[in-house]
Amino acid sequence: MCGIVGYIGKNKDIRIGLEALRRLEYRGYDSAGAAWYNPEKREIFYIKKTGRIDNLEKAILESNLNLIGNPFVMHVRWATHGGVTDYNAHPHFDCQKEFFVVHNGIIENWAELKEKLVKEGHKFISECDTEVIAHLIEKYFQGNLEEAVRKTLKEIRGTYGMAIISKKDPQKLVVARLSSPLLLGIGQDETLVASDPSAVITHTRQVINLDDNEIAVITPTNFHILKEKPIITIEWTPEEAQKGGYPHFMLKEIMEEPEAIENAIRGRLMIEEGSVKLGGLDVIAEKLREINRLILIACGTASYAAKVGEYMLEEYAGIPCEVDIGSEFRYRKPIVDEKTVAIFISQSGETADTLAALREMKKKKVLTLGITNVVGSTQARETDAGVYTRSGPEIAVASTKAFLGQLATLALFTVYLGRQKEMALVMGKRIVSELAKLPELAKGVLKSASEIEKIAEKYKDFKNFWFIGRKYNLPIALEGALKLKELSYLHAEGIGGGELKHGHLALIDENFPTVAICPSDSVYEKMVSNIQEIKARNGPVIVIATEGNEEIKDLADDVIYIPKTLEMLTPILATVPLHLFAYYVAAKLGCDIDKPRNLAKSVTVE
Ligand code: AGP
Repeated sequence: MCGIVGYIGKNKDIRIGLEALRRLEYRGYDSAGAAWYNPEKREIFYIKKTGRIDNLEKAILESNLNLIGNPFVMHVRWATHGGVTDYNAHPHFDCQKEFFVVHNGIIENWAELKEKLVKEGHKFISECDTEVIAHLIEKYFQGNLEEAVRKTLKEIRGTYGMAIISKKDPQKLVVARLSSPLLLGIGQDETLVASDPSAVITHTRQVINLDDNEIAVITPTNFHILKEKPIITIEWTPEEAQKGGYPHFMLKEIMEEPEAIENAIRGRLMIEEGSVKLGGLDVIAEKLREINRLILIACGTASYAAKVGEYMLEEYAGIPCEVDIGSEFRYRKPIVDEKTVAIFISQSGETADTLAALREMKKKKVLTLGITNVVGSTQARETDAGVYTRSGPEIAVASTKAFLGQLATLALFTVYLGRQKEMALVMGKRIVSELAKLPELAKGVLKSASEIEKIAEKYKDFKNFWFIGRKYNLPIALEGALKLKELSYLHAEGIGGGELKHGHLALIDENFPTVAICPSDSVYEKMVSNIQEIKARNGPVIVIATEGNEEIKDLADDVIYIPKTLEMLTPILATVPLHLFAYYVAAKLGCDIDKPRNLAKSVTVE
């Protein structure tokens, strides 16, 4: 998964592109490159460098090249085909260096295309699949760039978001999309293209999202796309995309978790009616009355939200549910019928495995719903209906506030469906009034950040951790473990408290701490006995407990308190301290928190 930026309009210093590209660096950061048509020299200059954008900027500044470019394309890479080298970095070009391409996605039939083109005399210099695009455009070019691109796209199989410039047709920036995200940022006599909105919002809030199989031909003063497209206004402020003064995007986004809950519930709670309003479901409200089964599908952190949703929907909406991860579900042969609904949960809305599962369900004519954060993303457009979590831009690779947004949205969805079925007005009123309190309660939890930092300091040198929870908080144990793993590279596993004695307990000793999520809920006693099992083997235990529970201090080595709320909503509050714990441990270990090694923000390849 990579990041693309393109620009056409006024003769500008290409460094404006670097600023936009930096906002996409979380999408891939093993190499970067730029190509720009210099109107004065009527030449395309290009530079590509392995490493972060800083390396590229340094090389550009030391190049002594004329930095005025119009149009230009830029790219940050997350390698899939070909090693991390300068010549595998993008942009890629043809034999005569007349066509320059930046690409996000995978060309599946690149090897056979390359073989054919080599036989036709084309000279390849990289191992990257993208290079075939440049040579195909060279092959088909007869004076009109978009025509050559159109013919090229007919030959390639795979996924792409791509942007192309050429010195043979320099007044054009041509972009195309199939599966990988790409949008146009419409400015005054200038257009920026990018893989996601965060790269364009310092220039414009007017964006057009390209759909699959669409090509946009952009000139300095105009653009045309095959199909009429709605202009969407991006709400986010530039600052939102910046760190707001925090050392890391992740800490900023954890501190925005109360706001993420607030955004998810704002204008959706109907306290008096004990119900909720989810406008995005109106189009299918009738159909939802008939359903008798829900399948929730997602990947990674989003799949843990799905798991919490399963508990909520079965207990309070009385609908049979099952949860599966996208990478498995896409290959399963699930038994579904017209009363089954498939719900897809994704922050980015671009996760390949989740999208593939979605397309499988669409093939089976199953009603599909999306719970998505990124407005206009593929999942949002391909599902029959859905609910946005409105968590705002999430830049750090580790998902935090978007997860809280997903949990709050699933609680809303539970009331929405429950009130259409057996959920009584009083229960509906209880849940929505408790939901309304959550943002303030979550702010309360954030106040114990410095205590959690002290606990992180105490445990940062341990190498292995268990996270245990039961019922609604088993998925939160999984989430706590994933966050610690992906941020600090320490080994951590989440399991059900009841599973400990079935083998996992063997690992417990004074060097193997456990984080136990143990609010005062219906399984509290069970969790206490699990903690006693661990203490009996001298295992250190950090407990997440409900405020007012003093007795737990006698058992635990450290206690982090969360406010009292409904059992089904405790996961939303219990997650906050786990995100802070993982953040502070990683910070103390000096890890690259916003860009953990080997990971990427949204995984757009299988
Ligand atoms: C979470 O911190 C990870 N970044 C990862 O597990 C993520 O949740 C997963 O890739 C799903 O992403 P999505 O929500 O954008 O679909």
